[in-house]
Amino acid sequence: MRKVLVLRAAATGAASVSNQLIDAWLATHPDIESVERNLDTHPVPHVTSSALAGIGRQAPEGRDFIATRALADSLIAEVFAADILLIGLPLYNFGIPSTLKSWFDYVLRAGTTFRYTAEGPEGLVNGKRVIVAHARGGKYDDAAGIALGLAHLKTLLGFMGITNVEVVTAEGLAFGPEIAQTALTQAREQIAALA
Ligand SMILES: Cc1cc2nc3c(=O)[nH]c(=O)nc-3n(C[C@H](O)[C@H](O)[C@H](O)COP(=O)(O)O)c2cc1C
Repeated sequence: MRKVLVLRAAATGAASVSNQLIDAWLATHPDIESVERNLDTHPVPHVTSSALAGIGRQAPEGRDFIATRALADSLIAEVFAADILLIGLPLYNFGIPSTLKSWFDYVLRAGTTFRYTAEGPEGLVNGKRVIVAHARGGKYDDAAGIALGLAHLKTLLGFMGITNVEVVTAEGLAFGPEIAQTALTQAREQIAALA
């Protein structure tokens, strides 16, 4: 049975479009085993001076660092255990939500999920597939470099070696209820149709 790690980052709960798209994919794929990380209801702490030593390559010293290390280890283990990462990506101020960024700050660990070689960095997380449920109020040309959330997400995943990324986008959600409903319906159909 395929294992799916679900990452939710929306602050809008049940009204969230990215959450609805995640739910649409899950509803049409009952043949999977899923693990949920809801970064809205259970955020990963920001990287501060009290957390830094726990997320790095070095062995931690002190109770705070051990707790941080244990959290980072469990987040990383969930990634390695998954066949598919199903990621909700609301666009917040042209970037990824800070809750999702914090998750990556814990998961991108040198020597574990990537390493540096003489030829440069090398991702160590292989064979994963990612489905991104992207939601945004405006409409953007992703190549224009304005709405950077998706590009940033792909860079972070690619740094770990994950390049098989499929994206379903619902956009124009702030352009009025009719446009929003059409965008949601189309994106829901698109994501449900993904294998
Ligand atoms: C803090 C915040 C910042 C946002 N910034 C942007 C933005 O830069 N561009 C945009 O198109 N939409 C922006 N939006 C709108 C969201 O992308 C939109 O509401 C989307 O549906 C959020 O995903 P969700 O429905 O899963 O919560 C922002 C929303 C919030 C709450």
